[in-house]
Parts: sequence; C-alpha cells; structure tokens
Amino acid sequence: MVTEGYETMLRYVMDIPRQLGQMLDRHHEVDILPRYRFRNILFVGMGGSAMGGDIAVSVLQRDVSCPMAVCRDYRLPGWAGPDTMLFAVSYSGNTEEALAAYGEAIRRRCRIVCISSGGQLTDSARRRGHPLFTVPDGLPPRAAIGYLTVPLLLMLGRQGVYPKVETEIEEAAQLLRELRDPWLGKSRRLASRLRGRLPFLYATSSLTAAAATRWRCQLNENSKVVCHASILPEHNHNEIVGMGSPSFLRRKTAAIFLTDRDTHERTSARVHITRSLARDLFEHVVLLEGRGRGRFARLMSLVMLGDLVSVELARLQGVDPLPVQRIDELKNRMASRR
Ligand code: F6R
Repeated sequence: MVTEGYETMLRYVMDIPRQLGQMLDRHHEVDILPRYRFRNILFVGMGGSAMGGDIAVSVLQRDVSCPMAVCRDYRLPGWAGPDTMLFAVSYSGNTEEALAAYGEAIRRRCRIVCISSGGQLTDSARRRGHPLFTVPDGLPPRAAIGYLTVPLLLMLGRQGVYPKVETEIEEAAQLLRELRDPWLGKSRRLASRLRGRLPFLYATSSLTAAAATRWRCQLNENSKVVCHASILPEHNHNEIVGMGSPSFLRRKTAAIFLTDRDTHERTSARVHITRSLARDLFEHVVLLEGRGRGRFARLMSLVMLGDLVSVELARLQGVDPLPVQRIDELKNRMASRR
C-alpha cells in the first residue's frame, strides 16, 4: 500500500508539466470572463487550493500596481468589496472556509471568479452565474497544483495584469519536463538529509516565499512531518536569535535556504552570513536556487523539487504519501457539528 501510494504521488508530481500544458491549451476558456474594473485582487481558499494564489502573488507582486492577498479564512478582510477581483478556489468545492468566504464575497458584491472541480462551489457558481473554470477532478487537491494555478494566471493575463503569461507558462512546462528526471536523484539525496530531522525552510525573497509554503505543506501532507518555514530578511530580526535552540534539536534539524537570482543584493549578503552562522547549529545546511528565466518557471522549479523531496522522504520514512487521515477526520468531525 505504501509503495502503491508512493508511485501514485510520484506520478502526480511528474505530471505537473503536463498539467501546466493542458491548462495552457484551455487559454481560450478564460475569454468567458468579463473585463472587470478592480482595485485589488483577493484569492480565497485553503490548503492545496490556496497555493495557486500564493504562487500568483509571488510571481506578480513586483509588477502589479494593485494590492494582492490570499485569504485562508471564513471571513474576508475589511477592504474586500465591489472593487475586489476575487478568486474563490476550492478543488473539491466543499471546503467550508472557502464557501463561507465566497458567501461573504457575494454579500459584499466582489467581482467573483470560481475555480473548482465540482461540489457546492461549482453548483453555486452555476446557479448564480459566476464565471467558473472547471478543472479535472479525481486528484488529491495538493496534486492539482498545475490545474489550480494556471487558470488564475491566465485570467489575470486576460485582465491585463500579466501580459507575458502564456510564454512564461510554456517556459515553465518545458523546463519542468527537462528537470523532473535528473531532479529525482537530487530529491533522493535531499530527502536522505531530511530523514529523521526537523526541516527549517528559509525563503530569501517574496518569490521563494511561495515555494517555502509549498515545501512545508507537502512535507506535512506527503511525508507526514512537522516543519517550519520563514523568510529573510525578517528572520534576521528575530528568529536568528533562537536558531539552534533548544540545543537537543541541533543534531535533529536541517536548514534549507530557497533562493532566487532576483533576491535583493543585501538579502543575498544576509543569506551568506546567516548560512555561516547556521553551520554549527543545524545538522545540514543546504542552499537551493530556482532554475529558468521567467519568475514563474523559477518558482515552479523549486515547487517541483520540494514535491519530489516530500514524496521521497515519505518513502524513506515508510509512510504512504497519499492519505491525509487527520484532515479527513477533522473535516468529518466539523461536518457532524453543523
Ligand atoms: C489535500 C490538500 C488539502 C486541501 C484542503 C482544502 O490534498 O491538499 O490541503 O487542499 O483541505 O480542500 P479543497 O482543496 O478541496 O478546497
């Protein structure tokens, strides 16, 4: 069963480039979207369905002139209203936080677009006439990363927010196709360093912050380990003091710096110093840089590597990467409290 789950999840990760290409082929479907007037952008969703929003924010925030945020909660931020372009994303379409936030978005007259593979969100979008992008169903939501990310980027492209969108997605799909086999070996070596250790992920820019979040979630859900993620330069103003403590953790931790060539030069200097300080405080210290030209490709290369590492770590630890029993149990227990 564990082997079967490993092979299935590995196949899903290897399939990310195909997901990107398949969604790109559906680019004409975003033409159904009216050209909205908006002043800010909000992505609503939980877990695997929130990741696309994180990726879009990380890729676009340097270029886009309006504020963008991801809402992982039942309630919307106070500023969301008729000037908000709001993407309600839930792979299953049945996640209660996303449905509640979507309901609030309707009441506040946000410009709503829904992305889902089915469930109540799909039914409601159809009934109310909200633009809906339907993605293929039958996957664990976290394995649908390509399906859930590309439509957001294409729609933002359609709104004039991301002009190079199609070229960048094409580049990412091509790059990931080239990287996936050689990176399987790399991911095995990285996973062996993480085995039996607490992973600390350090993002070095807003771009790699989304990669760190994805690594953390995939290590949680696939490898069934707890892990920590934070971002520099903020780390240098608080967490740096606590590094290596409590001391019993020292031989039981691994630090992974997720970096990008567009990291601010002063932050790069900070990374250099922080790594040298970290050397005696962690069992392993590793620096990984995204590959590719465009921001999307650079980010997705780190995302795919993290996904591979999480699956390999599951195999090394003898756990099945597929089931997420505690999430399921929690959702069931919450449902019985309605
Ligand atoms: C499971 C997973 C979870 C879900 C989350 C929200 O594979 O990744 O994090 O994404 O529980 O569910 P959906 O995505 O169906 O709205």
